[in-house]
Amino acid sequence: MQKVGFGTFGIENGKPTTQAVLDAIHTGYRHIDTAVSYGNDFAVGKALKKCEIPREELHITGKLWCSAKTKEEVVEQGKRTLKMLKLEYLDEYLVHWPFSKSREENWKVMNGDIWLGLEQLYKEGYVKCIGTSNFTIEHLEALKDTATVFPMVNQIEFHPGKYQRQLLTYCKQNDMIIEAWSPLGAGAVLQNDTIMELSQKYRVSSAAICLNFCIAHDTVPIVRSTNPIRMAENLSSWKFHMESQDMERLEALVNVGDTGLDPDDKDLFRKLEEYGK
Ligand code: A2P
Repeated sequence: MQKVGFGTFGIENGKPTTQAVLDAIHTGYRHIDTAVSYGNDFAVGKALKKCEIPREELHITGKLWCSAKTKEEVVEQGKRTLKMLKLEYLDEYLVHWPFSKSREENWKVMNGDIWLGLEQLYKEGYVKCIGTSNFTIEHLEALKDTATVFPMVNQIEFHPGKYQRQLLTYCKQNDMIIEAWSPLGAGAVLQNDTIMELSQKYRVSSAAICLNFCIAHDTVPIVRSTNPIRMAENLSSWKFHMESQDMERLEALVNVGDTGLDPDDKDLFRKLEEYGK
């Protein structure tokens, strides 16, 4: 898997998305991350068709939206996503958000059921790797009761200001790849004093400090940009060594650039609407 992935959340549907994905691929990205809820998967699919890169060189991630509540609905939604993206298979398919105890009494059974749908898509070859997104340790532990294949990936919010140490350790202990969404804190951490000070010290951009932080913690940042210059910068600028005391300062930052999207929040779906999903 490439060290940095390209995220398509929040890019306007239609031509802007197709152009951004084409620019990203031409800049060198091979890992493209999308989701049903972003509403732009058809436009992503157009870029994938147009880019002339052999399919096996690309790594395409899709995410299951929580409208699917049974194994059958999951399989149906997964196949619909493949159609929208004009693909024969996905490299990675993730449950976008868990069902959770603050919202669904039956959350354990519900997560277990949809997970069986992902397992089916995996066993039938529609997806090469299955995983979760925004699952906490509690959600992942509960899956162990019924899963026959444990999630291979967990994609979580991770950046300086949102250092999820315990979850990171748990995922590593369970042989999961950790992907970091919002690695730049949706752009909001870039003006933070500590990050700006370190960016001067190492003579790199604030974005490079954040991406270095993610990669040094063995996560794969899924970074977004519609600007080809920043796309290129994000692919390579993180390649420098940061001293451990500086890394510790970044680990200690709290509530900087935090989206506040908590998988266990009763109001999560209202907040996601506001955030744009
Ligand atoms: P833009 O599309 O104008 O480049 P995240 O990936 O954490 O969600 O952050 C995405 C935001 O950060 C986007 O608004 C994007 O804006 C901005 N961004 C991406 N790369 C950089 C960069 N290298 N420097 C500054 N801002 C960036």
